[in-house]
Amino acid sequence: MRNSKIAGLGFYVPEKVVTNHDLTTFMNTTDEWIVERTGVRKRHYFDPDKGETNFGFAVKASEIALQRAGLTPADIDLIVYATLSPDYYFPGSGVLLQRSMNFRNIAAIDLRAQCSGFIYALSVADQFIKTGMYNHVLVVGSEIHSSGLDYSDYGRHVAVIFGDGAGAAVLSATNEPGKGILSTHLHSEGKYAEELAVIYPKSSAKNRNPIEELRPGGGFYPVMNGQYVFKHAVTRMPEAIMEALEANHYKPEDIDLLVPHQANARITQAVQQRLGLPDEKVVNNIHNYGNTTAASIPIALCEAWEAGRIKDGDLVCLCSFGSGFTWASALIRW
Ligand code: COA
Repeated sequence: MRNSKIAGLGFYVPEKVVTNHDLTTFMNTTDEWIVERTGVRKRHYFDPDKGETNFGFAVKASEIALQRAGLTPADIDLIVYATLSPDYYFPGSGVLLQRSMNFRNIAAIDLRAQCSGFIYALSVADQFIKTGMYNHVLVVGSEIHSSGLDYSDYGRHVAVIFGDGAGAAVLSATNEPGKGILSTHLHSEGKYAEELAVIYPKSSAKNRNPIEELRPGGGFYPVMNGQYVFKHAVTRMPEAIMEALEANHYKPEDIDLLVPHQANARITQAVQQRLGLPDEKVVNNIHNYGNTTAASIPIALCEAWEAGRIKDGDLVCLCSFGSGFTWASALIRW
């Protein structure tokens, strides 16, 4: 049976860099608190005055991924677009990407699995390729968080973590035995849905857009039970990695590179320790970008690939945890 392989990767972050020190000029926080609790030193924010958009970032990342795959938009059979910060409430950002890059009238699937969005999207793309329905699928994770964060004391533990950006991967069919995406493993547990969430605009409200909910701590802003999220993340991510390894008869020491969702440096450290992996086998870039949710894994994967950290034949493991709760893993023989 044929597999899908990652044929090209790209990422894009907006030019505007916001350091922890920059945050202290308009927020009640310190560089020390942020670095110690999260590992984040700076992040990139979009610039509304430049007309920057979520799908615009996706275009830039996708152009690079397509060029590296040696393909043009005409070759792509499907778009799978993961985001929790879409340009519009509807339609999804997938069609805006389709329009902007002059893709054929192919399907554009928008996928909502928050920090697990990229692995979920990769899995959807993989199934379409494995069944033979499509040959080349564009998978995108893109986010603009900075316009929706609560910078008051109510939301500062959330606001300091997140950043904006996009990553993209082109998946192509391969008949090389044992190569490509070996398996994906997807999970959710909705009983924790409100532990990390943005509640508005909610369709079941009397008025979908009540202005009073724009106050600090209101429903348009993310709420997060940080310690709860932390505890679940450090359990579920190792579980998902072990599930992927066991499904393919591997052990943690067989992993050449682990690319975890960049939730928080302390979460990554805990996952690394549980698996007994050395530093050189784990990708960490949260200090530069913060948590970019659906974009974090493709950005980290692309940077690792650009730095020569992934060689032909390497066993690469992706894993994620996030709002939902959702968690996921993917094992790839490069
Ligand atoms: N700057 C300064 N102080 C802050 C702050 C900030 N940005 N945010 C919160 N604080 C303060 C709080 O007000 C509180 O003060 P108090 O002790 O006087 O009441 C203190 O720091 C501790 O706050 P708390 O929210 O309990 O901190 P914490 O130790 O739980 O750390 C997180 C907060 C968010 C860093 C931590 O819970 C975490 O890492 N959770 C996982 C989050 C995550 O990864 N989310 C993404 C998942 S995809």
